Amino acid sequence: MNGDTVEETYTAAERLRDSLVDQAVTEGRVRTPRIEKAMRTVPRHLFAPEVPLEEAYANRTVSIKNGDDGASISCASQPSVIGLMLEQLQVQPGESVLELGAGTGYNAALLAHLTGADGRVVTLDVDDDIVEGAHSNLATAGFSNVEVILRDGAVGHADGAPYPKIVDTVGAHGIAR
Ligand SMILES: C[S@@+](CC[C@H](N)C(=O)[O-])C[C@H]1O[C@@H](n2cnc3c(N)ncnc32)[C@H](O)[C@@H]1O
Repeated sequence: MNGDTVEETYTAAERLRDSLVDQAVTEGRVRTPRIEKAMRTVPRHLFAPEVPLEEAYANRTVSIKNGDDGASISCASQPSVIGLMLEQLQVQPGESVLELGAGTGYNAALLAHLTGADGRVVTLDVDDDIVEGAHSNLATAGFSNVEVILRDGAVGHADGAPYPKIVDTVGAHGIAR
């Protein structure tokens, strides 16, 4: 791959990313400038490297693992839903954040962008393949302030507590105190 090709790919990813975020802003799902900037900056395609750029930047989930019955058991969440969740969470610089459901690591990267270098992000997943993949994606995208841990989100992560912000990206029946 020569330098020109890298430049073209980068430009295409940026254009698609901007268009995705423009849509989320127009629809009112993303309203906070810091969140908008995070979504315009974090390269979602590096967290879904197995799909074409257009799919990585569509406003849809990207499935990364299927069960024996073919049903998806892990995915990158839909970008507009991520935007809504980040709007509710309102992560501030320097905060510690716990995420349940690492998946691709994309949302953890957005959280890390929002907490900044003084913050801390811990993300949990129950599947060791997924933990490994999220870790690798985060490293490729240059996020070193995220810990990806193999653990059931239902039991939390008391070692790193307290977390002023916790975000659950997994279906949950309830929230334990
Ligand atoms: C919708 S995906 C998460 C999307 C992810 N935040 C992202 O940005 O790509 C849900 C993830 O939760 C994981 N999961 C399912 N049950 C869990 C549990 N009890 N604790 C932690 N993770 C769990 C799945 O393995 C899957 O990777």
